[in-house]
Amino acid sequence: MKAIVIDQYGGKEQLKETEFEKPVPGEKQVIVKLHATSINPIDWKLREGYLKEMIPFDFPIILGWDAAGIVDEVGEKVTDFKAGDRVFARPETTNRGTYAEYTAVDQHLLARIPDNISFEEAACVPLAGLTAWQCLFDFGNIKKGEKVLIHAGAGGVGTFAVQLAKEAGAYVATTAGTHNVEFLKSLGADEVIDYKKQDFEKVLKDYDFVLDSMGGEIQKKSFTVLKEGGRLASIVSNPDQEIASQKNIKSGNVWLDPNGEQLAKMADLLEQNKLKVVIGHRFPLSEEGIKEAHALSESHHAKGKIVIEIR
Ligand SMILES: NC(=O)c1ccc[n+]([C@@H]2O[C@H](COP(=O)([O-])OP(=O)(O)OC[C@H]3O[C@@H](n4cnc5c(N)ncnc54)[C@H](OP(=O)(O)O)[C@@H]3O)[C@@H](O)[C@H]2O)c1
Repeated sequence: MKAIVIDQYGGKEQLKETEFEKPVPGEKQVIVKLHATSINPIDWKLREGYLKEMIPFDFPIILGWDAAGIVDEVGEKVTDFKAGDRVFARPETTNRGTYAEYTAVDQHLLARIPDNISFEEAACVPLAGLTAWQCLFDFGNIKKGEKVLIHAGAGGVGTFAVQLAKEAGAYVATTAGTHNVEFLKSLGADEVIDYKKQDFEKVLKDYDFVLDSMGGEIQKKSFTVLKEGGRLASIVSNPDQEIASQKNIKSGNVWLDPNGEQLAKMADLLEQNKLKVVIGHRFPLSEEGIKEAHALSESHHAKGKIVIEIR
């Protein structure tokens, strides 16, 4: 099968198109014939070697951890899926990722793709969508009427977080550049802080929850806008527990845990048109396509999701 791999850590030039053996399913795994995958910042962070201590992989590595396609083959103990099913997943983080024509996925991580959703749309959901879900609901336990701030609302995680928080009945503020203000209002945000013109720390106050995808100064300032007893979930770094304890704030660094049941709940929202996928950019599964997609993701100004079409 065709796959894009890296044989060592480094820049985009390490991405190489190659022929790779097709995976065989474990007892409780299915082989998905991929029709689409998507790019997440973890892809290029791993490529650069920034995560090598945390995730020590052997080479070669097939990057990519969003799968959407058709079940091609099932393991002996797979009961819930059969060949031909349309499925999507955030597979386990292994060195056999999704920049490929086929990938193996544990059955419990899969969910069915609703009929009204394309493979490309489906491929954008698992990693970014589950991250937003777990921050808002598992960590943040957000409730109807609460005030929620989502940083970087126009990004992969942000576009899902804004919509999921609105769907949960929260009042949603978000931060973005000038060119994304109208877009985020159309996505449902109640208030958009243009970070080029305004300092969110001076505009917002008494918030119940912040989703921090920026870290550094932005994370520090986020404590100011939270009320006593608020919550702060960061997906990039450990929040300062000293500052948190001064205001009795629950804060932590959330790491996505792949979860098929939660993905199925998001599939229901997609089916009912209560959640939509924002595809900002499309590239083909080729060495050049993945290189361009990584460059765009590394710019930190991609809009919505970057999808990879696999034909
Ligand atoms: N812990 C986990 O499990 C986990 C899971 C997923 C992602 N992450 C991490 O979370 C981060 C975000 O991921 P992502 O996929 O959402 O990234 P992304 O899609 O690449 O984010 C791009 C967005 O960030 C916005 N942005 C850039 N600078 C900004 C600023 N100063 N203020 C507000 N918005 C700004 C851009 O909007 P403008 O063009 O308007 O500036 C752009 O739309 C990454 O570092 C990623 O590695 C962690």
